[in-house]
Amino acid sequence: MLQSLPMINKNTGSETDNMEESIPKILIVDLGSQYTQVIARSLRELGYRSAILTDKRAEQWLTLHRPEAIILSGGHASVSDFEAPKPPTNVWEQDLPVLGICYGMQYMVQHFGGLVKHKRGHAEYGPASINVDDSDGLFISLDKREKVWASHGDTVQELPEGFKAIAGSDAYQNAAISNEERKLWGVQFHPEVSHTPNGKKILKNFIASIANIKEDWEPVDIIEQIQRETREGFSDKKTIIGFSGGVDSTTLTAILAPVLAKNLLAVCIDAGQFRLNELEQIQNTINAIGVQLKIIDAEEELLEKLKGITDAQKKRSVFREVYKAAFDKSIAEFGAEIIAQGSLATDFIESGAIGGGEVIKTHHNIGLDFVSEERHPFRNLFKYEVRALAKEIGLPDYLVSREPFPGPGLILRVVGADVSKERLDIVRFADKTVRDILEKHDLLNAETLSQLVVYMLAGSPVVGVKGDARVYDAPIVVRALKTVDFMTGDGVQFPAELRLEMTLTLTKHPHISRVLFDETPKPPATTEPE
Ligand code: XMP
Repeated sequence: MLQSLPMINKNTGSETDNMEESIPKILIVDLGSQYTQVIARSLRELGYRSAILTDKRAEQWLTLHRPEAIILSGGHASVSDFEAPKPPTNVWEQDLPVLGICYGMQYMVQHFGGLVKHKRGHAEYGPASINVDDSDGLFISLDKREKVWASHGDTVQELPEGFKAIAGSDAYQNAAISNEERKLWGVQFHPEVSHTPNGKKILKNFIASIANIKEDWEPVDIIEQIQRETREGFSDKKTIIGFSGGVDSTTLTAILAPVLAKNLLAVCIDAGQFRLNELEQIQNTINAIGVQLKIIDAEEELLEKLKGITDAQKKRSVFREVYKAAFDKSIAEFGAEIIAQGSLATDFIESGAIGGGEVIKTHHNIGLDFVSEERHPFRNLFKYEVRALAKEIGLPDYLVSREPFPGPGLILRVVGADVSKERLDIVRFADKTVRDILEKHDLLNAETLSQLVVYMLAGSPVVGVKGDARVYDAPIVVRALKTVDFMTGDGVQFPAELRLEMTLTLTKHPHISRVLFDETPKPPATTEPE
């Protein structure tokens, strides 16, 4: 089912732009979690709108509006940190059901006089099993033992008066708590992520059964909405779209093309980051959509600027610089007043641009401050939602299910040493080799993996022997992730024979003498090595 997702209001942070006439009944106080947007998305999928506000804005908002339930998000701080975000005190004065998630629960415990213990490292990380008290309203129609996703260092040691534990994990007693009289609930785990299989049921129990809120979100046709906004907003203006041939930019181009016609120019920056044969595919895709494409060659410039740079964030900023300069030039040449990009919610969240979370990685096309007006129609969408749009608009299957590929591409996959043309070529070879093997075994599909990431530990060469001679080459790492939304995911474990086939085929290359497999889930790893 398609979801129409309103733009986040830059001033209030709320999702209320398109709906001034009716205020969301659920307030999410963002305490700095990577998953805050995911809570809002899960609520939309359940049929509810919500407003996301930072702690400070929430205080003011609560003086003007009365929601019907409040959710306190998780966060990366520790409740005892001096600068830790604090839910405003008027949250507790509303006599409304409040659900604290992870940090939100810990804050609740501390606020009401319980004890939160700060631990170095992580108390629980990743999948956990909990025993739940299914007589509590939060856990209605759940099993007595449930799988959940947890990620926390601090733990609740003592509950405040009036609270009781309603779930416990093997490692940890207070996995969920409640104080029914004061209408307060808390969960130490994350019900909003897809790795908590019954997480949506828990959120639904809180919203529908405990808070008794009626559904107020009707999914509408987002393609129609974007086209209408484009028609009314800027169809007469020249527009440039950043085009990488991936599902996001291709889908957005296909949506905008019929409205903008000749006013739309797709621009692709080729800075040496692409995989083998990728530029040809890009050209074929754009021809099929019928939009003019300009490819700008910036490889030499980028590689020159990357010399001596190994730090991941610095590499990203150099890529951003080259990317922006190339775009600025095309904007001037085409006379574009608008620049459209297919950036997703994940990109904004990880860049720290929305959600109040930490900067995980600065994405190449976020916050570039172009001279022309920027439009990001997909800024509240997650990958699987864009795939639904791609299907809806009739893009061919191979594009609908196309794996994501990061803007800076293979630049991010040469780790720990200079990015040179030679190293990029080795990674290009390795990527193609692994892809061909997976394809041969019919495993290069969305059922097996969501993204394949083949990278080089360029800064850590190891000794090997080839043709009786000593070699000293950087290891190649093969990683595949299976995920729904790229916020969390599992490392794919390939069968032993397949791993051996990949290893033997890859090491035929004169500069590959060792192959490693990276099966780490996200978190703690991310999809990309940088
Ligand atoms: P991570 O590594 O953060 O990746 O788990 C999540 C998704 O985002 C892609 N990614 C990027 N895409 N610019 C992009 O356009 C970037 O800088 C970037 N970093 C990661 C990654 O490939 C995955 O699909």
